[in-house]
Amino acid sequence: MGGDPRVGWPTFHQAALSPRTAPVGTVDHPLPLIVDSDPGLDDALAIAAAVVRPELRLLAVTSVGGNADVHHCTENALRLLELYGAAEVPVAEGAAGPLAGPLERATEVHGEAGLGRTVLPAAKRRPEPGGAVALMARILDASPEPVAIAPIGPLTNIALLLRSYPHLAAKIAHLSIMGGSIGEGNSSASAEFNIFADPVAADIVFKSGVPITMIGLDVTHHAYVDRSVLPRLAALPGASARVATELLAFSFERSAEWGQGERMAIHDLVAVLHLAVPDLVGVARYCVEIDATSGPARGRTIGDCSPYRLGRDGRGANCDVGLTIDRARFVDLLVETYAQLP
Ligand code: RIB
Ligand code: CA
Repeated sequence: MGGDPRVGWPTFHQAALSPRTAPVGTVDHPLPLIVDSDPGLDDALAIAAAVVRPELRLLAVTSVGGNADVHHCTENALRLLELYGAAEVPVAEGAAGPLAGPLERATEVHGEAGLGRTVLPAAKRRPEPGGAVALMARILDASPEPVAIAPIGPLTNIALLLRSYPHLAAKIAHLSIMGGSIGEGNSSASAEFNIFADPVAADIVFKSGVPITMIGLDVTHHAYVDRSVLPRLAALPGASARVATELLAFSFERSAEWGQGERMAIHDLVAVLHLAVPDLVGVARYCVEIDATSGPARGRTIGDCSPYRLGRDGRGANCDVGLTIDRARFVDLLVETYAQLP
């Protein structure tokens, strides 16, 4: 009579951690960075870190439809940057929906307008004309050094950038992508939302040859906060910390309604902090392929790190995958971020 199949020979292959391939900024040489985002509760916290971290130089925030309608995401990016005292950072609007397939939203998680019940003051400025892809291309072309991009929403804009300006792929230092999962998904049993929302774009990006770190649910589910963070944020001066408290409280409420407890994984913040803090996230090398079919596995990031299979099939790893994080340190970094904001 067999024992518990979960304790025998695991049906998943545990990858050994390996040195990161993503660059990391330093105070002396901040990493130039574009954040491509669908703000979005966790996006709001990720953008805050991109603004304040001395190891990063935020060059632009581009919006993409995802958590909410793209116009809400654009306005949210403008409003958040003004709240954070970073109104000089250009914002441009990107794709409203996927390259192909149905339109997916996560308003049930983030609220209809993307920031829970929080309504920030209307932005004083408008997005850059010409759109997100043109702004990213302009920045990449003009930069004297390669620029990192943190895509923390669906990958539609990134796929369009690579297809419209293939010569600029060499100017992308690294893609620190919040998306995917070697294990289960969240939008479906197979797929994490950002990939589920545009698997065709994700397939283009993961096949592009641009260096990638996939910050998926495997690591972001360890990067959660609970109500204990609220008094730490409430003790901080400044409107930004109060807004963060509101956004988190809304998320805890929704999470509790779904029986998942009063906690929130701050998925997107991990993808940004990975570029500023060298030893926060542990990674391993995987060959990640995207299921862009229309079946029940649509949007799955199929990760293979089996030396046997990769050798047999002549496939190689195409990305780092985030697997480990020190949660207490992560929460401290979140609080430190908001301690530096107005
Ligand atoms: O699955 C989590 C991702 O989907 C995060 O980027 C969140 O903001 C949503 O876009
Ligand atoms: Ca997001």
